[in-house]
Amino acid sequence: MIRAGIYGVSGYAGFEVFRLLRRHPMVRIVFSASESGAGSSLAQLFPVTEDFRVVGFAEAPLDQVDVVFLALPHGVSASVARQALAMGVRVIDLSADFRLKDPSSYARWYKEEHPAPDLLAEAVYGLTEWNRPAICSARLIANPGCYPTATLLALLPLAQAGAVGPGPIIVDAKSGVSGAGRKPSLNTHFVEVDENLSPYSIGRVHRHLPEIEQMLHAFNGSIGPLVFSPQLLPVARGILATIYVPLAPNWTEGMVRELLVETYRLEPFVKVLPSGTVATLRHSVGTNFCVLAVTGVPEAGMVILTVSIDNLIKGAAGQAVQNMNVMFGIPETAGLM
Ligand SMILES: NC(=O)c1ccc[n+]([C@@H]2O[C@H](COP(=O)([O-])OP(=O)(O)OC[C@H]3O[C@@H](n4cnc5c(N)ncnc54)[C@H](OP(=O)(O)O)[C@@H]3O)[C@@H](O)[C@H]2O)c1
Repeated sequence: MIRAGIYGVSGYAGFEVFRLLRRHPMVRIVFSASESGAGSSLAQLFPVTEDFRVVGFAEAPLDQVDVVFLALPHGVSASVARQALAMGVRVIDLSADFRLKDPSSYARWYKEEHPAPDLLAEAVYGLTEWNRPAICSARLIANPGCYPTATLLALLPLAQAGAVGPGPIIVDAKSGVSGAGRKPSLNTHFVEVDENLSPYSIGRVHRHLPEIEQMLHAFNGSIGPLVFSPQLLPVARGILATIYVPLAPNWTEGMVRELLVETYRLEPFVKVLPSGTVATLRHSVGTNFCVLAVTGVPEAGMVILTVSIDNLIKGAAGQAVQNMNVMFGIPETAGLM
């Protein structure tokens, strides 16, 4: 059995990790930690769950686990990661602390100095389908953001194959409100969100933009600046991204679909839909699947990719568990089907 600890269990992503690990056949949850919930039972925080005592960070028995999941805000994760690594514990961090390789980029986008620049070199970007060999042996996983997971799974095959032509790629991505975390704010207030649809951080200002471009450029340095426009959907969970991609000469809708089908043929969690269909939220919510579809617009020399994931599962906790399965050499689908 893999012995696991969870930090941030009182949050949406941390509780989702708990929910998945609780039914994982090869994992024993040794502790789940939250500073505000310390001493309470998890049943008090989430009434639907069975009883499980929540500990404060200082009480978490790091010497009794093989791996920890950090579902904490950026800036907080890094110090817990350092502590765990020093005890020989492998770390899967769901925050943004180890996603950007360049600490000056982190300072620019997250408005603070990087809390652990010395750990950046060994952090492995945990987009499972695209980084498996490095994930196998990693001590520290930077679990990707939710929007980057959806966007990159759709775009990386095209970037790698040289299918992207000149002109901007436009990512119009809509997310359910759990993407903003459990702590309420005016923007996520029911009255603001219900029966509404709000673009935010549109253009080139959202923090997930450099993460997406860093990975895209690792596969194809000639891809131009991305336009990335997130929007808040009045639903609890799910991401639906509509991505407009200019095609390189001689590429067609059929070739792009074939490329996606071939790339993900053996992947248990990426599904490519047939011609004439589009991905919708319902295809993925509640699952670890990423669902992709291609629509051609030959008159404009482009394809539109639609991609759907559950932000809390494939976009966070599910992908984190998938990465743990790869790290520990157990079946990748364990606990996730
Ligand atoms: N929500 C998503 O769809 C999603 C997707 C991908 C990645 N992520 C990332 O996952 C992480 C958690 O996100 P979330 O959506 O689960 O947020 P959340 O619901 O707001 O939960 C945040 C968690 O962090 C803890 N926390 C907050 N401030 C802390 C501090 N100063 N010291 C120690 N613990 C602190 C909270 O515990 P207390 O109860 O003790 O305050 C809570 O358990 C974030 O880095 C987020 O970017 C989220």
